Amino acid sequence: MLAEADDVDRIMAVMACAFDPEFGEAWTRRQVEDALILGNCHYLLAGVDGVTTGAMQPAGPTAGFALSRTSCDEEELLLFAVAPEYRGCGIGEGLLAGFAEAARHRGAVRLLLEMRRGNPAESLYRRHGFVPVGVRKNYYRTLSGPRLDAITFVRTMDA
Ligand SMILES: CC(C)(COP(=O)(O)OP(=O)(O)OC[C@H]1O[C@@H](n2cnc3c(N)ncnc32)[C@H](O)[C@@H]1OP(=O)(O)O)[C@@H](O)C(=O)NCCC(=O)NCCS
Repeated sequence: MLAEADDVDRIMAVMACAFDPEFGEAWTRRQVEDALILGNCHYLLAGVDGVTTGAMQPAGPTAGFALSRTSCDEEELLLFAVAPEYRGCGIGEGLLAGFAEAARHRGAVRLLLEMRRGNPAESLYRRHGFVPVGVRKNYYRTLSGPRLDAITFVRTMDA
């Protein structure tokens, strides 16, 4: 999905404040643009009212975004974030639900994501039907040194 430059700005504004540098998860603008130019990557933006707006720009500030990649009948959630000041209001829930719905429309029968062990987002993922299916030991290197496992979660879409 090609993104409007404005939309990349909106994604990057959330990117800049949402990720703890300790975990090195934030992407650069170049990484986002390169992903979106490929055609099999998609994004959702959420406004502050919690409504997921798809590729349409939210009317006000952008509170969060989701970035995903389609591969055959699977879709992987690559990145998902809400700016700290808007957390705990259901915007993350809305983005996850919007991602699942959009992926279903694109023909996905399975959703995947990878999460560093200990990310509090795990409860959210589990509530949305994701179950852990594998572990990559010591996959993430943290800024302070220790390595963290990556856990792969899968959700099979209902018929
Ligand atoms: C994960 C994230 C997108 C959730 O956004 P959100 O808008 O706060 O989510 P919601 O308000 O819809 O849901 C909150 C739920 O998410 C869970 N949660 C996720 N991250 C959390 C955090 N950092 N602190 C506390 N709870 C968190 C809690 O279970 C909470 O459930 P509760 O309301 O029953 O307590 C947000 O915390 C975030 O941007 N984190 C940093 C980036 C990140 O780690 N992304 C995921 C990996 S790419």
